Amino acid sequence: MNLSRKSLKVLVADDDIAQRLLLRTSLEADGYDVMEAEDGLDALKKLADKPDIRLLLTDINMPKMDGYDLIRSVREKELHYTYIIVLTSMDDREALLKALSSGADDFLTKPVFSDELKLRLKGGTRLIKLESQELLIFSMAKLAEYRSEETGFHLERVSHYTRIMARDISKKHPELDMSLSMADEISVVSHLHDIGKVAIPDNILHKPSRLTTEECEVMKTHTTIGGKIIKDIYDKTGSLYLWLAYEIAMYHHERWNGKGYPFGLEGEDIPISARIMAMADVYDALNSKRCYKDPFPYEKVKSIILHERGEHFDPKVVDAFLRQEEACLEIKRRFQA
Ligand SMILES: [Fe+2]
Ligand SMILES: [Fe+2]
Repeated sequence: MNLSRKSLKVLVADDDIAQRLLLRTSLEADGYDVMEAEDGLDALKKLADKPDIRLLLTDINMPKMDGYDLIRSVREKELHYTYIIVLTSMDDREALLKALSSGADDFLTKPVFSDELKLRLKGGTRLIKLESQELLIFSMAKLAEYRSEETGFHLERVSHYTRIMARDISKKHPELDMSLSMADEISVVSHLHDIGKVAIPDNILHKPSRLTTEECEVMKTHTTIGGKIIKDIYDKTGSLYLWLAYEIAMYHHERWNGKGYPFGLEGEDIPISARIMAMADVYDALNSKRCYKDPFPYEKVKSIILHERGEHFDPKVVDAFLRQEEACLEIKRRFQA
């Protein structure tokens, strides 16, 4: 019996006590922690009391509150996704469609066979695992942010800038093969660009004056450290968005002209995700106050960006920024530190 499944809680909502017992026996044999509810209202109450119940098996016809209303209420209130499997009769297609459109994820027809139950629950556990992984990643990013010199809404703004520019590029440059969903994923994982800073000592990370050459070299390792951490998770999971996160963490300080770090990559050798990230990150840094500088006046920010077109930044990304300048300014206004 494996440990991760052992701790997963399933709530079985059914007014038929024999049916509950049957499901309980089968689920417990499979290592689930089983709870029971005798009607929809009871189920709702138990879900509210125990937010770590992530799987729900529910009957449709129950007193007090039926399965449809239960499913709808769960969907309205949930903070984390609850995977819902509805129990239906073999011949009731209409009830099944109604349950699915109320928000059920899957169904089981009665009588329930334990091998089928096992397979249906697998989909649910997979989804929950993925969601937990994503949450863990974002807590890591928050952790890095606490230690960072970049306060206020840096991560929020940068995430919006990357989405705006990546979406523009996805429409304007089909040859780059950037889909709209990839543009959105870049924006989500942009939060992780400086995750490697957790490994940089405080006296360097928070030094109010200029770094020495040696300290600068240490600071630069936040790219390779962050990149490697994420690449390791990617190798284990194969999730595309982790690959994008890796590209961003590893290459966001590379420059179009080859004068960046850690590898001095040039032009198209730098992944497009990181080229967009670089532009968003610097644009925000110029606009923001840091311990060693005040925000630059906007005219200066813009002239620096234009000056770096084809130098620090990919010309296509600068052009995307220019087309979307108003949208970026709106984000700047909305998320002021
Ligand atoms: Fe960085
Ligand atoms: Fe940053």
